[in-house]
Amino acid sequence: MSIANELKAIWSEYDLDELASEGAKFLSRGSATDWGLPADLEPRVPPITLGGGIPDPVSLPRDELIQSMSRSIDVESDEPLRYGGGIGYEHLRDEMARRFNRERGSNVTADHFLLTNGSAGAIDLVCRAYLSPGDTVITERPTFSGSVRTFKGHQANVVTVPIDSEGMRTDLLEDRIQEVEKNGVRVKLIYTIATFHNPAGITMSEDRRNELLRIAAKHQILIVDDEAYSELRFPETSLPKDLSTMSECHGVISVGTFSKIIATGLRVGWIHGDPRVLDHVLRMRFDMGNSPLLHYMLADFMSSGELDSHIEEMRGLYRDKCRALANGLRTYCEPYITFKEPEGGFFMWVNLRDGLDPQSVQAAAVEEGLIAPAGYAFFPNQDEMDTQNIRLAYSWARLEDLEEASKRLGRACERVATGEFTLAS
Ligand SMILES: Cc1ncc(COP(=O)(O)O)c(C=O)c1O
Repeated sequence: MSIANELKAIWSEYDLDELASEGAKFLSRGSATDWGLPADLEPRVPPITLGGGIPDPVSLPRDELIQSMSRSIDVESDEPLRYGGGIGYEHLRDEMARRFNRERGSNVTADHFLLTNGSAGAIDLVCRAYLSPGDTVITERPTFSGSVRTFKGHQANVVTVPIDSEGMRTDLLEDRIQEVEKNGVRVKLIYTIATFHNPAGITMSEDRRNELLRIAAKHQILIVDDEAYSELRFPETSLPKDLSTMSECHGVISVGTFSKIIATGLRVGWIHGDPRVLDHVLRMRFDMGNSPLLHYMLADFMSSGELDSHIEEMRGLYRDKCRALANGLRTYCEPYITFKEPEGGFFMWVNLRDGLDPQSVQAAAVEEGLIAPAGYAFFPNQDEMDTQNIRLAYSWARLEDLEEASKRLGRACERVATGEFTLAS
C-alpha cells in the first residue's frame, strides 16, 4: 500500500472539522456577495449589476499603472523584489502622509501609516492586535458585512447601534456600552464607516463625530474608522474633518484602501494611527508584509501626480453616475421608494414603501435583470434585521445602463406590490 493510501485510510476515520479553530468552526465560508438569493432564479435578460463596491472598469488607469510599474522594476537595486518588512515601503507611506496633510490639514508622517492587504486586511490586523475571544465590538446598524465576518472570526461579540441621516446614533451609544460592561465584558472597538457609509451612503455629522470621540475616550474604547470611500466625495461636497485628524489619532485608528480610488485587485490598503498602535499591530503581523513591488508602483503613481488627477476624475464620474441613477429612480420607481441622494461614495440606500418585502423585490429584480442586495445582508444580528432597504451600487455599472436599471427596479417593485411576484418559501 502506498503511503498516500495508508494515510487516506487513517484520515478518513477522523473528523477534520474537529481540528478547525473556533472561528473557522463558527463561520460559514460565505462571501461578501452571498445575498441569500434562491438558487433557481434566472434573469430574463442580460443583467445589470449594481452589486458590489467596485470602481468603474472603463476608467481604470491602466497605462499610468503600467508606466509606474515599469519605472519601479527597471532599477539597479533588487529592493522592489525583496522582502519589504511588515510596515511597508517608506516612500509610499511618505507620499500618503503628504496627501493626508494637504487634503485634510492633518500633521502626520510616514510613521503614522502601516501598509496592509486592502482595508479588509487592515481591519483583520487591528483585530489581531486588540481583540481577545469574547471581547465586544460595537458597530453601526447596518454596516459592511465583510467587517462583521472579521470581528466574528476573531470570536468577538458584535453589538450594534442604529444610524440615521447623521450617522451613528451616539445618543444610544453610552447605554449600549454600559449594557455590555455591566456583564463584565470589555468593549474594545467601535467600528464606524463615518464617511460615505456602506451600505447607507450617509456621512456622520460633525456633532456626532465629537460625541463619538468623547464617549469612546471616556470608556477607553478604540474607534476604528473605515475610510474605504472617504476620498470619493463628489466635486461640490465639503466634508467634516475626519475622526483621525480631529483626534490627532488619540484613540482613533483609521483604515483605508487603494481599492476604491484605483482598483480592488491591487490589494493594498493601510492602517493610519498612533505609532504605538502600529507597534501593537506589527507584533501580531506574521505574513512578512505585502508586495514591495506594488508599493513601489503606487509610490511612483502618487509622486508623479497621477493619483491626484485620477481621484479628481473619479469624483466627477461617480457624481454623474449617482445623478443618473437618482433621476432614473425618480422617474420609474417613485410610487414605491424613497431615498436620500448621497454626496459621495458608491452606494444608494433605497427605502421600499411599507409592505414591500426587500427580499421579494431583490428576487423579482433578478428576474427583471437587475442584481442588487437586499438590506438584510448588512445587519450583523439576525434579530435586528428591521430593514425596508435594498442597496444600489452605481460605481461599476455603465453610466448609460443606470436609467434601464431603474426601470427594471420599478418593474420589480410593481410586480411585488401587485402580487404578481411572490417569493417561494
Ligand atoms: C466599508 C468597506 N470596508 C472595507 C472594504 C474592503 O475593501 P478592500 O479590502 O478591498 O480595501 C470594503 C469593500 O467593499 C468596504 O465596503
